[in-house]
Amino acid sequence: MLERSTAACLETPFENIANDLQQQGWSACDDLIAPAVVAELRQEALAQWQQGAFNPAGVGRGQDRIIDQTIRSDKVSWLAPEHSSPAQAIYWQTIERLRATLNRRLYLGLVDFEAHLSVYLPGDRYRRHVDQFRGASLREVSVILYLNDDWQPTSGGELLLYIDRQSRSPLQRVYPAAGKLVVFMSADFPHEVLPATRQRLSMTGWYKKRDLLKAL
Ligand code: OGA
Ligand code: MN
Repeated sequence: MLERSTAACLETPFENIANDLQQQGWSACDDLIAPAVVAELRQEALAQWQQGAFNPAGVGRGQDRIIDQTIRSDKVSWLAPEHSSPAQAIYWQTIERLRATLNRRLYLGLVDFEAHLSVYLPGDRYRRHVDQFRGASLREVSVILYLNDDWQPTSGGELLLYIDRQSRSPLQRVYPAAGKLVVFMSADFPHEVLPATRQRLSMTGWYKKRDLLKAL
């Protein structure tokens, strides 16, 4: 009986992501958030975009933060969980469930999550980078949810994940199709976004661990 419930537990997509992170440091799946919710998130993102709620994305943090469109040319709108739509509330609940699973299974001590919507217009890109800022290691796990309906391989816009800083050929190539969710250890995987031939929407966020300096 115990064996059975353990097996059932391992089948949940949350457990699958934890297993993948444990074994290989990254995970990709399609079924964590229902298609109808993803469609709603897309409609809302587009409405926000039309209202001009997006700003050029920065690179770096604090005083090192700059806007350099040769590195990244997308535009972002930070999410505020307290002002969520019903679809965004489902996103935040899913993020919270995944946080609990990752902490329980991998002892990551994740306490917080920050996220933004991003829009890449045709030709926009984000050159190869690592999500952890230099000298600060608060971003532990990166989570990207794609919102793009009917994405074709010919549309480009892939996320390329690399195994390490030296590697030239990608470990994984992910098309940003609606509902695709990619999770990886922020410090470990350099990655880049290739230019697309159409608009590309994503929700990108990071689990963070406690800022011990701040607590002092
Ligand atoms: C980022 C990032 C990837 C993507 O915002 O740091 O790498 O596919 N985004 O949107
Ligand atoms: Mn990134």
